[in-house]
Order: sequence, then C-alpha cells, then structure tokens
Amino acid sequence: MKRPALALTLLLSGSAACGGPSLHTRAGGAVSSLEIAPVDWNPTHAATGPVRAVADESELVTVFSNAGATVLVSGAVAARDSKNRGWISGAVIPGPDGVAEWLVGVTEDGRLYHLRGRTAFDDVTARYGFASTAIRAVTSLGAGFTGIMLKDEVATARGSEVTRWPAPGIHDLTGGGGLAAGTFVDAVVVFDFAHKTSWRFALPGVNQVAVDDSGRVYAATERSLYVSDGRQRLALLFDAGAPRLRGLVAAKSSVWLLDGDELALIDRDRLLETRGARLAADAKLAPSPSGDIWVISGGKLDRFTRARGIESAAPRWENEVAPVFSRACASCHLPDGVSGVDLSTSAHWLEKRDRIRERVMDERSMPPRGHALLDADRETIERWLAR
Ligand code: HEC
Repeated sequence: MKRPALALTLLLSGSAACGGPSLHTRAGGAVSSLEIAPVDWNPTHAATGPVRAVADESELVTVFSNAGATVLVSGAVAARDSKNRGWISGAVIPGPDGVAEWLVGVTEDGRLYHLRGRTAFDDVTARYGFASTAIRAVTSLGAGFTGIMLKDEVATARGSEVTRWPAPGIHDLTGGGGLAAGTFVDAVVVFDFAHKTSWRFALPGVNQVAVDDSGRVYAATERSLYVSDGRQRLALLFDAGAPRLRGLVAAKSSVWLLDGDELALIDRDRLLETRGARLAADAKLAPSPSGDIWVISGGKLDRFTRARGIESAAPRWENEVAPVFSRACASCHLPDGVSGVDLSTSAHWLEKRDRIRERVMDERSMPPRGHALLDADRETIERWLAR
C-alpha cells in the first residue's frame, strides 16, 4: 500500500455558496414536470426478502435483503445466497484487472463481497488490504478508480494499487467522472485522485452529494440544491423553501433526488419533478448505471425510468432506448462486445435501424433465446423505430 506523496489538504479555502433565490424556487418557475415509468425488473414476482440495497449492471440485478442476496438475470432468478444477511449497500466497481465490472456488496460488519460467476459471494476485503479495517461504503469513481470509505479515511483502488487518504469526519463518499466527493460537517470536499489534489466547498448544513459521469458535483442541504460552477463555487440550482430534499444520487449522467414525496431529476440547470408520486417518508434512492433509478421503501424495491415527456413526442435514444440497451443488449453489444456488433450509441442504432426492426420486432431473434426482453422494453424500441 502506498502513501500519497502529496497529502490532500482538507483545508483548502472554498467560497461559500451564493445565488439569488427567487429564480430558483418553484414559484420562480424552476420546476418542470417529470414523467416516469415503472420498469418491471422482477416479472415473476420472485421473493427477495425485505430489501436493503441493490446493484445492477446490464441485465444482471442483485437485490440485497435481510434474507440474503438474490441474483436475477434478465428478470429471472439465477442464484440466491443466504450466507450473508447484514447487507448495507451494493455497487458496481471496476474489477482489479481494470476490464471487468465487479458487482459488490458491503455488510454492516464492514466486509466487501464480490459476486463471482453470478452465483456466489467471495469476501474480497483483504484484497484491498483491509483485513482488519471496516469498509463503510464503496463506489465507482469512473476512470477505472474505485472509492472506498473507511472511518476518517478514504482509499482509492485502481487495478491492484490501493492508496489511502486522510479524511477526518467524512460522512459519505460518492463519485463519477474520475472525481470523488465526500460530505463533512458544513462542507463538501472533492478529490481528484488522478491529479492528487482536492478542493473544498463550504456549505452550512450540507448532507448530500453526487457527482455525475462528467464530473459535475451536486450538493444539497435539506432545503437547497447546488451545482458546482468550476472549482470555486457552488451555484444555487433550487431552493425547496422547506426541508424537503434528500436522497441525491447520480446514475451516470442522470442526477435524481427526492423532494418531499416526489421524485426529481436534474435536467441541465432545471429540476423536473413527478406530480403525485407519493413516495413514502422512508424511501431511499439507489442509482442504476443505466440511468434508471431504484426506490427502496418499506423493504420493497421499485425501478423507474424517465418516460416520454410532453416536450418530446418521439422517444430520444439517450433517455429511453439507452436504459433498454443497458438492460437487454449491452452484455453483447458494447464496443468490443462478444457479438462483434457495436450498438452502444444512437448513431449505431440509426445505422442498423432496419436490421434491429428485423431481428427484434419481426423475427424476434434478438436478444437471443434465453435472454429476455420485457414487453415494455420491446414497445420502447418499437416506438423509437417508428419515429
Ligand atoms: C447474449 C448476447 C446478445 C444479446 C443480449 C443481444 N444480442 Fe444482438 N447479437 C448477438 C450476436 C452474437 C449477434 C451476431 C450473430 C447474429 O447475427 O445472430 C447479434 C446480432 C444482432 C443484430 C444483427 C446485426 C447485423 O449487423 O446484422 C442486431 C440488429 C442485434 N443483434 C440487435 C440486438 C438488440 C437490439 C439487442 C437488445 C434488445 C440484442 N441484440 C441483444 C448477441 C446478442
């Protein structure tokens, strides 16, 4: 294990957040409506036990509950593991070889487990050098980095290289776009590990932070939501007027949060919000790498995707087809995927449009037998093809 040559200082100065509130309130027109659609991730209603956390990657979903972990592939149960019960979180992180994605879970006694072969969990805590140190959270930071939160310390792993950084008083660690961000009392600290530097935003009452896949940092107090404007300052994006905000998370480029009992999504500099979602007070959000959002509430798990808004009559590939691609096609159609056919962008879909219509709609030979495509997902593809 290597100590950083340049210690990160948490005392770098950062200016306090500022901004005129009036434009950033509901009354000032800061909120537009958000249409969401439920995704039927568990079509056979397989029992999972009271859900505590979830992690997914392409068509693989692992549900962590009080009863153990349930692994679903394309909506069908592929394995169950009841050895470990005290799960507190799940994540998908880069594997130590830097190529594979690892689906992992963290237990309340501070151990990190890797889902091997989609069937069983291996304790990999010692692989990261933490045989006797409790791990509190694990997150993918992008750029091949994994972020690990310990007590008063942050570690980063890339390949087999693990580096530890002091972070006294850290509450929460999250990352994206190669950056990590942690909440501290009245401050957010952003770590840029590749460049061995960090900077700090003072923000009284901050208790939530998220970083999207382009490295934009979002921070929130119970009442106000801010976005980073370079390294110098946090700019006010939304003032809820009351302590209503919680659950801020980034799912790739989509940043979600809860505003009271509504689900909200940040769209550039606007806030989009559901009307009448009536989420319970205990609702907790978990991001999906597809851009979808998971909601855990009362031990139950729901998945939502952003649905066609009023503004866009035709479904946009990025908003609607991309999550379907991620669930049903990505395991074979990424660049360099096993199929040899790259379908990871809207440009590729446009180019292969006729072949997609043939194979997915007419012949129904894609995805191949044994790989399910939910009816709702087939309809989304059909609507996109028909635009
Ligand atoms: C389990 C792997 C797998 C999954 C999942 C999968 N495919 Fe494929 N796909 C293949 C393979 C392998 C080929 C090449 C052989 C063939 O054409 O059957 C292929 C070929 C295709 C082709 C033909 C391309 C061409 O140039 O002729 C299309 C179109 C396609 N897939 C679309 C999709 C879509 C859309 C999805 C998701 C809804 C999907 N596939 C899911 C494995 C997969």
